[in-house]
Formats: sequence, structure tokens, C-alpha cells
Amino acid sequence: MGHRVAVIGGDGIGPEVIREALKVVEATGVVLETRAVELGAAHYLATGEVLDDATLEFLRSHDAILLGAIGPAIGSTEVPPGVLERGLLLRLRFELDLYVNERPFRTIDPSVTVTRREADFVVIRENTEGPYAGEGGFLYRGTAHEVAQQGSLNTRHGVERVVRYAFERARSRPRKHLTLVHKTNVLTYAGDLWSRTFAEVAAEYPDVMTAYNHVDAASIYLVEDPGRYDVIVTDNLFGDILTDLAAAVTQGIGYAASANLNPARTGPSLFEPVHGAAHDRVGTNTANPWAAIRSAGAMLEFLGEHEAASRIEAALSVLPPPSATTTQIGDFYAERVRHGDR
Ligand code: IPM
Ligand code: MN
Repeated sequence: MGHRVAVIGGDGIGPEVIREALKVVEATGVVLETRAVELGAAHYLATGEVLDDATLEFLRSHDAILLGAIGPAIGSTEVPPGVLERGLLLRLRFELDLYVNERPFRTIDPSVTVTRREADFVVIRENTEGPYAGEGGFLYRGTAHEVAQQGSLNTRHGVERVVRYAFERARSRPRKHLTLVHKTNVLTYAGDLWSRTFAEVAAEYPDVMTAYNHVDAASIYLVEDPGRYDVIVTDNLFGDILTDLAAAVTQGIGYAASANLNPARTGPSLFEPVHGAAHDRVGTNTANPWAAIRSAGAMLEFLGEHEAASRIEAALSVLPPPSATTTQIGDFYAERVRHGDR
């Protein structure tokens, strides 16, 4: 029996890139039992529902979730900011306990990147805590004395489990190097918890080399010398920002894949490209499905389909032909998966 996969095409180019990702999965011979689930800005505008409990439970009953993109067109005012982010994307991360957000970056052809440098690293972003989950509130909102507070939640349990995952990931890679990125010189409480936890877990992994960078310095290194990194582990918000930067200095946002993982496997994990819905490209057949294909490959890997996953990974090791359309790019990689990457 095939793996049960809930497919959320979502908004904008989401359904277009997911179609190509499923095409490439099919080329591996792995059979998925897919069920389409309507969610996103269009669904919200049509029904008034962001994510109802029944749909959440339906998603929970699957082995994995593959998601295209969520969000209204830029400039549209029909969906207030935060509604879909908090109500859908973050709710799924929290409710399904997707505490690891793994985002791999690898230059395919450094000559067409902004830095022209080789890089091959993975960012392990904490995905259920930090400023995304902290308490906050207003005092005197709308007055001359208004105060907005936005806290950051960091638990020993939450930090330790993602740090441990990062050490395991580093151990599995040839360079076995892990960098903690934080801002311990200013965020002294959260930073203290992160660095003590990191040091304690490090003692269990004597084979993994470790380093620490402040997040501002890491931003410079990512631009000037991205090749120095192997695995980075960091807080939710730093990870959000650093992974957009990482995409920009490697092959670009069209090549940024992500896996929102529940490594304890108490429910499905969710796989999605980092890019957005790009409504301006809908129907033009110009979206790059590479990141969606790579995310689907990560899904197969997590589902235990190692052979199929590595065939996708190998197929993706070249750039798509110049000016190929979305469908042609899907065909191109499906063909490479079918016949090997020769
Ligand atoms: C991402 C996105 C999300 C985030 C938004 C859309 C909530 O930027 O997946 O990186 O901030 O995590
Ligand atoms: Mn982001």
C-alpha cells in the first residue's frame, strides 16, 4: 500500500509546482495515495475558514503533508496579515509538533549565484518556539504612550530536542561540523539556555566539531564565505531570516526546499518549498518547481524511500535547461529520475 499523503496545493503557483513535484515522485515508481486538501487564501475567502478542526484531524491521519504555497496576492487587502500565517502555517507547525525546520542549501552552479562561491550546508531552524510562540500584548494601544511587547519562548525541552537533532544531522554528514547561531551577547536569557544546552549535548557527540556565531556575524559569513558552514542550528526567527539570506547567496529562492519535521513521528511531517505563492506568475508556466521537487524528495527520504529519494537528489544536481517552462522542468527531472542522471 502506498504512503498516505495529504496534498495542499494552496495559492498562486503552489498547485503548479506541486503538480511537477508529484510527477517526479511518480517517476521514481514510489506509489503515493494522495488526497487533495483545499486550504489557503482562496479557500479562506470562499469559506471564511482558515483551518477547521476536522481538516486538522484529517491532515493528522496521513503519513505526510506536501504543501505548495499559501498566501494572497501582494497588495491584496482581503486577508489581514497574520491570519493565514498564524492560523494555518504556524498552527500546523505547532499542532503537529513539527519542531525541526530543516532547510538544505547547495550551490549547483556557483557561476550563476550572487556570491559565485560553492556552498553545501543545512540550516536546522527551531520551529515551534522563540518569538513565534512568545507571549505578547499591547498597553494603551493607539495612544501616544502605547507599548507593544513580543516575548520569546525558549524551553529546555524544545531547545534540547532541536539541538540533538542538529547534532545527529551533523554526525551524518562528511564534515561533521555544527555551528550554533544566536545572539547570546544581547539575548542573555534565551542565549544562556541555548548555549548551555548546546554545550551539554555536544559532550555526547565528541566526533562533531562545533562553533558559535552571533547572528549578525553569521550574516556576513553567509555572504562572504558560505562554504564555511556545514550544519547550522538556530532559533525560530533567526532561522527564518538566515534561510532567506542563505537562499539568496546560494542558488536563489527557487532552490530553497524545506522539511517541517516531527522526528518523534507522533504525526505527519510537512514538506514545502520556502518560496511564496507568486500570484503574478500564475498561469504563465514560469514558476521553478525545483524547490517543490526537492521538498518532495525530502518527504520520500523521511518516509523511508531512501533509494527513490537519492535518485531525486541526484537528478536535481544540475540546473534546469535555460528558459524551460514549469512543465518542461518537471518533465526534465522526471526523465532524469527514470533514466539515471547520466
Ligand atoms: C517561512 C515563512 C513563514 C515563517 C511565514 C509565512 C509564517 O516565512 O516558512 O519561512 O515565518 O516561518
Ligand atoms: Mn521565511
